[in-house]
Amino acid sequence: MTTFLHLTDFHVSDPALADAQLLTDTEARLGEMLGMVAAMERKPAFAVVSGDLTNHGDVASYRYLRGRLSGLGFPLVYALGNHDSRPGFYRGMLDRSHDLEEPYCHEAVIDGVHVIVLDSSVPGRIGGALDDESFAFLDRALDDHHGVAKIIVVHHAPALDATSQLPWETLGQADSARLAAAIRGRNVAGILAGHVHVDRVSMWNGVPVIVGAGLHNAFDPLFGPGLRAVAGAGFALCTLRPAGLAVTFVPLPSDRRELAVLSEEKVRAFR
Ligand SMILES: [Fe+2]
Repeated sequence: MTTFLHLTDFHVSDPALADAQLLTDTEARLGEMLGMVAAMERKPAFAVVSGDLTNHGDVASYRYLRGRLSGLGFPLVYALGNHDSRPGFYRGMLDRSHDLEEPYCHEAVIDGVHVIVLDSSVPGRIGGALDDESFAFLDRALDDHHGVAKIIVVHHAPALDATSQLPWETLGQADSARLAAAIRGRNVAGILAGHVHVDRVSMWNGVPVIVGAGLHNAFDPLFGPGLRAVAGAGFALCTLRPAGLAVTFVPLPSDRRELAVLSEEKVRAFR
C-alpha cells in the first residue's frame, strides 16, 4: 500500500509580480495547503502536481514556487499545464538550459508506484494535446517495470465521450481515443489530472480519471449553462493498493463566495 498526494493547479505567481489576473490569493492557499501537509503525522511517499504550477509561466514564479515547496521531505513529480511554459519551468524549476521547448514527459518508480507523466500543454492554447513522441514515450513506459501499477499524470484529462467538454476543452477526441487504446490492459491504476478546477471522478474504460480542483478557484458544478467561479480549493490523498486506487478529496477552508460568472458564449471562447 502506498499513500501519495495529488496536487494541482497552484496558479502561483511570484508576489513581486503583483499578478492582477488572479481571482484569489493563490499564494495564501499554497501556504494553507503546505501547512496542512506539514501537519500530517504519516507523510505521503510522494506528491504529483498535475500542472498549472504557475499562473504565467515566468521563471521568477517557478523559482518562488520552488522555494515554497522545498523542505517538504518527500519527492514531488511535476506535470505541465496550459498556464505553464516549458522554458520557464525548465529554467526556474530544474535549472535546465537546453532543449527548452521539449515536452516534459518523464517517469519514476517511487515506493512501488510507476508514475508516468505526459505533457499535454500546447504553447498558446488552453486545450491540450499529446503528440506522436508523447504517445511513443507512453507506450515504452507502459512496457517497463512489469507488474508495477502505473499512475498517469497529465494536466488535461481525456474527453469521456464526444459530448463531455465541460467546462472547457481538455484532451481532444482523437487523442482521448488513442490514449484509451494505449492504456487498455496495461496495469494503469488511475489517471490524475487538473485543468478544469473541479473535483471529479470518472470511470473511463475501466480506469479512474481523477480531476482535482487545485488552489485557484472552484467551479460551481450545479450552475449552468455558463460557468460560476466560486472560492474553493483543495488537494487529494491517494492510496494505491493491489486492489486499486482510493482518492479522498481534502478541501481547504472556504466560504464558496462567488468570484465571477461567465456566460455560455464566453465559455465557448475557451475551446
Ligand atoms: Fe488551471
